[in-house]
Amino acid sequence: MKKATKGAGRDGNHIGVDLGLSDAARKAAATLLSKALADSFAVYLKTHNYHWNVGGMNFSQLHTLFEGQYDEMHGAIDGLAERIRALGHTAPGTLAEFLKLATVKEAQGGLTGEDMVRDLLDSQQALVRSLRKAESELGELGDVVSADLMVERIGASEKHAWMLRATVGCSGRHAGSRSPGGGASGDAAARRRPGQAAP
Ligand SMILES: [Fe+2]
Repeated sequence: MKKATKGAGRDGNHIGVDLGLSDAARKAAATLLSKALADSFAVYLKTHNYHWNVGGMNFSQLHTLFEGQYDEMHGAIDGLAERIRALGHTAPGTLAEFLKLATVKEAQGGLTGEDMVRDLLDSQQALVRSLRKAESELGELGDVVSADLMVERIGASEKHAWMLRATVGCSGRHAGSRSPGGGASGDAAARRRPGQAAP
């Protein structure tokens, strides 16, 4: 049997992991998966937050839309964490760890329903970009199962992004706008409603 992995503890890793991937490759894959898990959790939690706090005339529609998306993501998060465990590593599972690993910004308070949708759209698209990079790197490591998992998550997030984009009436490219919590540039003009004057 393979020698105990350095740093192994009571999580079963001391039994030895021999999956045809080097220890270094498994460790690198677990690191990539941990980031994907943290970013997925951040988007999941933000979606759940907005499900709770959305208000206004479109309350019912947005409350239901957000629920469908956080429900789907909840199951996916479990799969990402369990893949890390299958590789013989420990999955991050505290808010402190997720905050450290995640690149998607947290939810903001006081947003309108429309701004919540735009913020979630930006977050889902940021997640897609991050997962796409992870998929490529996992493929290079030879971890085809984790790479396949990324492909699955990219497809799910792209579908969530489409529904959010359709909800705010954007077609094709998202006009480069980023919501206040989206993490990147903002284009106030693109977010202004037709007929709404510039401030
Ligand atoms: Fe609910």
